[in-house]
Amino acid sequence: STVETDEEVLAAPSPTRRTSKLSIVGAGAVGATMAYAALMRGAARTVALYDINRAKVEAEALDLGHGIQFMPMAEIEGSDDIAVCADSDVVVITAGAKQKPGQTRLDLAEATVSLIGKILPPLVEVAPDAVYVMVTNPVDVVTYAALKMSGLPSSQLFGSGTVLDSSRLRYLIARHTGVAVQNVHAYVAGEHGDSELPLWSSASIGAVPLLEWNGIGGRGALTHEVREQIAREVVESAYRIIAGKGATNYAVALAGSRIIEAVLKDEQRVLPVSSLLEDYHGISGVCLSVPALVGRAGVGDRLQVPMSADELAGLRRSAEAIKAVARRFGL
Ligand code: 2OP
Repeated sequence: STVETDEEVLAAPSPTRRTSKLSIVGAGAVGATMAYAALMRGAARTVALYDINRAKVEAEALDLGHGIQFMPMAEIEGSDDIAVCADSDVVVITAGAKQKPGQTRLDLAEATVSLIGKILPPLVEVAPDAVYVMVTNPVDVVTYAALKMSGLPSSQLFGSGTVLDSSRLRYLIARHTGVAVQNVHAYVAGEHGDSELPLWSSASIGAVPLLEWNGIGGRGALTHEVREQIAREVVESAYRIIAGKGATNYAVALAGSRIIEAVLKDEQRVLPVSSLLEDYHGISGVCLSVPALVGRAGVGDRLQVPMSADELAGLRRSAEAIKAVARRFGL
């Protein structure tokens, strides 16, 4: 019939509704802030939050929903029923054990890997075509385990990796040199954790190779000592924030939203996400971060970044550190 009841009119999706749907698993500090960041940036038309804590997830969705008037148009749902994630285009997994002061990310592996084994299969059942972005730590081990447990193609599931660490690196270089962070191009590669390394030899500021940067007006040179100090600060960033406020949430949420947008808008953006490597500079069978193209199909080509001998050795050490943890779980 052409006559619709009021109820049907109300229930029907608006004709302008786009299909982009983002689901975020875990409504803790990271998941909820990522929903907020994604909504603020207009990353997806529908944002679904899923958590086993019904009161918490419903409250977060309600609080976010009350702000929709002030954000790009979107719908937000929150539920403890995994069906809320059905037919997602992107599923981001933030659920897992929380890093306590004094713990490394790798210390969380056991609890997280078993949790992922429980939540991933039902998720893949309701959202088989989604691109999966793992955020839970230790993200490289979790990504590898999730690939094994889900059987998904390695393009369709990857980790947030060192997108956040790279933004920390760029922030510190920008502050030291006095150049806008957007004009600093530098990547952190390897583990999202203690063995990660900045790729100095391919970094640039404006059009100047970073290793040739002598400062402006005699200020802000990037000497070996300064670079070492910045690299240390990048690694220590999360520990400092966790010591001060219990968790990191804002920057990781923005980094996550950036990745989500690259997928939903099919951007082919260069992002250092954690993906399964096959003969990358001779490294295989491990998930870690190197600059790669991210678009609607997930993670695509890895960039063959030229590396110094030291950087290559550092990347290999990082790969071994991740593999050692993965092996403990028989992965
Ligand atoms: C971060 O780097 C703890 O992995 C989290 O902020």
